[in-house]
Amino acid sequence: MWALSSLLLAGLARAAIPNAMLRGMPSLPKVPVPERSITSPNGTALPNISTVYQFDQLIDHDNPVLGTFKQRYWMNWEFYEPGGPIILMTPGEANADGYDVYITNITINGLIAQQQNGAAIIIEHRFFGYSNPYDNLTSQSLALLTIQQAIDDLVYFATTADLPMPGGDVVKPGQAPWILIGGSYSGALTSYTMVNKPGIFWAGYGSSATVQTITDYYDYFTPIREYMPQNCSFDVQAVIAYLDQMYAANDTAGIKTLQESFALGALDHVGDFATALQYNLWDWQSLVPGAYAGTWFYQFCDALEVKNGVNAGPDGWGLDNAIESWGNFWNTTYYNHTCQDKDVETCLGTFDLTNPYWSNVTVDNWVRSWTWMVWFLPSWAS
Ligand SMILES: *[C@@H]1O[C@H](CO)[C@@H](O)[C@H](O)[C@H]1NC(C)=O
Ligand SMILES: *[C@@H]1O[C@H](CO)[C@@H](O)[C@H](O)[C@H]1NC(C)=O
Ligand SMILES: *[C@@H]1O[C@H](CO)[C@@H](O)[C@H](O)[C@H]1NC(C)=O
Ligand SMILES: *[C@@H]1O[C@H](CO)[C@@H](O)[C@H](O)[C@H]1NC(C)=O
Ligand SMILES: *[C@@H]1O[C@H](CO)[C@@H](O)[C@H](O)[C@H]1NC(C)=O
Ligand SMILES: *[C@@H]1O[C@H](CO)[C@@H](O)[C@H](O)[C@H]1NC(C)=O
Ligand SMILES: *[C@@H]1O[C@H](CO)[C@@H](O)[C@H](O)[C@H]1NC(C)=O
Ligand SMILES: *[C@@H]1O[C@H](CO)[C@@H](O)[C@H](O)[C@H]1NC(C)=O
Ligand SMILES: *[C@@H]1O[C@H](CO)[C@@H](O)[C@H](O)[C@H]1NC(C)=O
Repeated sequence: MWALSSLLLAGLARAAIPNAMLRGMPSLPKVPVPERSITSPNGTALPNISTVYQFDQLIDHDNPVLGTFKQRYWMNWEFYEPGGPIILMTPGEANADGYDVYITNITINGLIAQQQNGAAIIIEHRFFGYSNPYDNLTSQSLALLTIQQAIDDLVYFATTADLPMPGGDVVKPGQAPWILIGGSYSGALTSYTMVNKPGIFWAGYGSSATVQTITDYYDYFTPIREYMPQNCSFDVQAVIAYLDQMYAANDTAGIKTLQESFALGALDHVGDFATALQYNLWDWQSLVPGAYAGTWFYQFCDALEVKNGVNAGPDGWGLDNAIESWGNFWNTTYYNHTCQDKDVETCLGTFDLTNPYWSNVTVDNWVRSWTWMVWFLPSWAS
C-alpha cells in the first residue's frame, strides 16, 4: 500500500496544463509504470507495455463512407488465458500517453485481468491526443465530437478489432466476455454505453462516474471545508469572506491590494483571482489516505498554520496572518508550481478568447476538445 501511495502521489500533479483554470478538473491520475519486461503465462516474452497499437476507427458512425482514422490503444496480455475477459477503458478527456499503468496490475483494471486471466486495453478517446478523425480541432471537425460517437467508438472497437495478441481475432463480444471500465467522465461514458448499446459489454464498471450536471456546484467544496484541518479551514473561510465582502461593496482598490498580497495584482478579473484561490482546495482531491506529508494540500495548510514551528489552534491565526501567509505561499512556491514562467494573465486569465488554449486548433489541445464537450454536450459536471 505504501509503495502504491507513493506512486500515485508522483503521478498526480497535472503537469503541462496550458491554463491552470482547469487544474481542478477531475481526471484520471497517471502513474509511471516501473520498468520491466513482461511475459505470457507460459514464459513467452511479450511486447513492451508502452507499445502503441492503432485501430481503424470510423470517422463518423452515422456516415461510414467517410472512412476511418487511426485510434491509438495499448494492450497487455501477460495474464491472458483463452476464455478470459477483455478489459477495456478510455482515459476520456486526455492524451492517453502515460496511461499504460491501466493495463498493468498496479490498477484495478490489471488486477481484474490478473485474477480472471484476462487482457487489458487502454484506448484513446476521439479528438484527444493523437486519435483524431480530422487533423485539426476546428468547430467543423469537432462536430464529430459527441457522446454518441464516443459510445459507438467503444462498441465498434470491441466488435471489429483484431487484437494483437495470439488468438486476438476471435475474442469479439459473444466469443469472449468484455468488461468496460471508466472513471469520472469515462465512468459516465461507461454507464451511457451500457444503456445505449446493451449486450456488448458483459459488465460496466464506473468509478466516480458523474451522474448529474450542476453548473454552479458550490457543494463540491463542502466536504473539504468540513474535513480539512480545522484551523486551515477557519483561516481560508476568513480570507474568502473578506474577499466576498469587498466584492459586495465594489471595493476594487481593496481587492487589488489583496491580489497584490498574492503577487496576482496583474489579474484583470476578480473572478479569475477567486478561481485561483480555489486551486489550493482542489488539491484536496489528490490526497491519498495515509500519505499526507509533502502533498500540495498539506504544504498549503502548513504554510498557513505553522508559524515559527508552532501549530495554530482550531481557530487558526486569523485574517491578517492568513492573507500574509497564503499570499506568501503563492508568491514563493505555488505560482511557480502552477504557472512556471508564464505571466499572470496567460496562466490564470480566462476572459481572453484568443488565448491559444481556447483557440489553437492544432490537435492534442485537450482544453479545446474538453471545453467543446462541456459547453455543447449536456453531459458532465465536476
Ligand atoms: C519499453 O519502452 C520504453 C519507451 O520506448 C523504453 O524506455 C524501455 O526501455 C522499454 N522497456 C523494455 C523492457 O523493453
Ligand atoms: C505461449 O503463449 C503464447 C501466447 O502468449 C503463444 O503464442 C505460444 O504458442 C505459447 N507457447 C507454448 C509453448 O504454449
Ligand atoms: C503483478 O504482476 C506481476 C507480473 O507482471 C507480478 O510479479 C506481481 O506479483 C503482481 N502483483 C500483484 C499484487 O499480484
Ligand atoms: C480542418 O479539417 C477539415 C477536415 O479535414 C478540413 O476540411 C479543413 O479545411 C481543416 N481546417 C483547417 C483550418 O485546417
Ligand atoms: C492545524 O494545522 C496544522 C497544519 O496543517 C495541522 O497539522 C493541524 O492538525 C491543525 N490543527 C487543528 C487543531 O486544526
Ligand atoms: C465599482 O467601482 C468602479 C471603480 O472603483 C466603478 O467604475 C464601477 O462603476 C463600480 N461598479 C458598481 C456596480 O458600482
Ligand atoms: C513576492 O511578490 C512581490 C510583489 O509582487 C515581489 O516583489 C517579490 O519579488 C515576490 N517574491 C518572490 C519570492 O517571488
Ligand atoms: C519552479 O518549478 C520548477 C518545476 O516546475 C522547479 O524545477 C523549480 O525549482 C521551481 N523554482 C522555484 C524558484 O521554486
Ligand atoms: C498551437 O499548438 C501547437 C502544438 O502544441 C504549437 O506548435 C503552436 O505553436 C500553437 N500555436 C499557437 C498560436 O500557440
